[in-house]
Amino acid sequence: MEQTEVVKPESLEDLIKILHNIFASDSINVEEVQNIMESYESKPQEWMKYAKFDKFRYTRNLVDKGNGKFNLMILCWGEGHGSSIHDHTDSHCFLKLLQGQLKETLFEWPDNKSRGNMVQKSQRVLQENEVAYINDSIGLHRVENVSHTEGAVSLHLYSPPFQSCQTFDQRTGHRNSVKMTFWSKYGERTPFETTVSQENN
Ligand SMILES: [Fe+2]
Repeated sequence: MEQTEVVKPESLEDLIKILHNIFASDSINVEEVQNIMESYESKPQEWMKYAKFDKFRYTRNLVDKGNGKFNLMILCWGEGHGSSIHDHTDSHCFLKLLQGQLKETLFEWPDNKSRGNMVQKSQRVLQENEVAYINDSIGLHRVENVSHTEGAVSLHLYSPPFQSCQTFDQRTGHRNSVKMTFWSKYGERTPFETTVSQENN
């Protein structure tokens, strides 16, 4: 067995540096990435400049483009905000809680013949500093901030980066392709787009 050493990132900046090193190699070890992200201790002063909330829905805020190998972003979830059920376009998806809690519900892929409610596999509540991992072979998920009093902030890594995914109707399994956009990039508000796009992750 290969032994992986976990270096504890001292800051978000340090974590990004370590991630660049890991993803410079062609094959990645999911557990290693998960451990590194988990060992970063969330400090609001390090990520506050990316954490921009919208009143009506959750926001996606680009932090780093990972030398083309990954996208690192911060998502801000207001009270009651949630995603659709969605896939991850054949990419790895790591999700770390920076603040608050998020509920993750896993679903099976709908098969083409069956209609009706999608099959729910499991559900959990992610706590501060915890890291969840998903890819298309694990299934689909929905992420929600179920709190009515607290916002939630999460750090997401997607590798390879992708710009669109599929969303699913829970009652029918019917799917739609959606393009994703950033609310801000590197701490700066992205200019409004002419088309309204539904964002998911
Ligand atoms: Fe996701």
